[in-house]
Amino acid sequence: MKTPIFKFVLISGLATAAWAGQPIVDVYKSPTCGCCDKWVDHLKANGFTVRAHNTDDVVQHKYRLGVPPGHGSCHTAEVNGYVVEGHVPAREIKRLLREKPRARGLVVPAMPIGSPGMEMGNHKDIYDVLLVNKDGSTRTYARY
Ligand code: CU
Ligand code: CU
Repeated sequence: MKTPIFKFVLISGLATAAWAGQPIVDVYKSPTCGCCDKWVDHLKANGFTVRAHNTDDVVQHKYRLGVPPGHGSCHTAEVNGYVVEGHVPAREIKRLLREKPRARGLVVPAMPIGSPGMEMGNHKDIYDVLLVNKDGSTRTYARY
């Protein structure tokens, strides 16, 4: 008898959480990586709720979420069924969630200097945010 009421409370609670701001981002990262923490701070500063999971096996999440080989970075995140790999700017994650493309998600391979969480003085690498299509191919989503 309690189950339907419980479900209602649970569902309305989730709906409230979703409307309160940006959706929750799950981040898988090494416990010892400083730039991952800085990227998490960048997401929080942009209104995301972040659940950070420390793990010694970030690679299993890259496989699970479909990061193409050779496109990895230091951390892997998941939001609304999309993968977000590496130091992707929060602005592009918001755009992804707004546009909802049929895709696996976004990647910034390696760790470009000047990307969110990788700030080093005034130096900035030019880097691309790539959209990963369902078939694993990529195209440029934004250039920084
Ligand atoms: Cu990094
Ligand atoms: Cu990282």
